[in-house]
Amino acid sequence: MAGEERPGAQQWVPSDPTLADLRSAVQECRGCELYRDATQGVMGEGRPDAPLVLLGEQPGDREDVEGEPFVGPAGKLLDRALGDADIDPDDVFRTNVVKHFRWKGVRGKRRIHQSPHKAHVEACSPWLDAELRLVRPTGVVLLGGTAGKAVYGSSFKVGETRGRLIEWPESRPLDHRPAWVLTTTHPSAVLRTDDREAAYAALVDDLRVAAAEL
Ligand code: URA
Ligand code: SF4
Repeated sequence: MAGEERPGAQQWVPSDPTLADLRSAVQECRGCELYRDATQGVMGEGRPDAPLVLLGEQPGDREDVEGEPFVGPAGKLLDRALGDADIDPDDVFRTNVVKHFRWKGVRGKRRIHQSPHKAHVEACSPWLDAELRLVRPTGVVLLGGTAGKAVYGSSFKVGETRGRLIEWPESRPLDHRPAWVLTTTHPSAVLRTDDREAAYAALVDDLRVAAAEL
């Protein structure tokens, strides 16, 4: 990490963009070093007027190859959980706090995910802000600790707030603040845990709280 140049993404974000503009502009971003080892930048996907934004961490191995968020194993689990919580997939805009895949080493056919550092999250935040300004969601679901810390700061812990509606923080100004935020576990954490069934049921329960607000 030492000596990395991280000017932040702002200078690569077009003014007054569409979502399609963001998707092409992110391919030029040099806001931090993560573009170097990734295949492409992965912006959010969904209706530009979706009432709900789901915010993950960063694209994974599949997402990096396909150029779309949540198309790998965690995304499949998330889709199932949305269905079980009666959330229409059309109402959802899915995105991540970091737009390039951070990884190191290979296991089998897959590259090994590394969580982004706080400095990557900060460098990348202009892309997320641009998406939130365009989509103007009613609600935001934060999936896991990286998304939670990106919005609430480094002391955030999923366990302290999960499953309850909380306020978008004043510290992160937006013209159109979402009416509520819901925090829950990341679908990859569900895949990694020993008691998958219980973790999955808890994720669905949390998503039902969001569903009731839509
Ligand atoms: N995990 C995430 O946080 N985001 C994705 O897009 C895929 C997996
Ligand atoms: Fe730019 Fe974000 Fe990619 Fe870093 S991770 S190069 S800030 S888009």
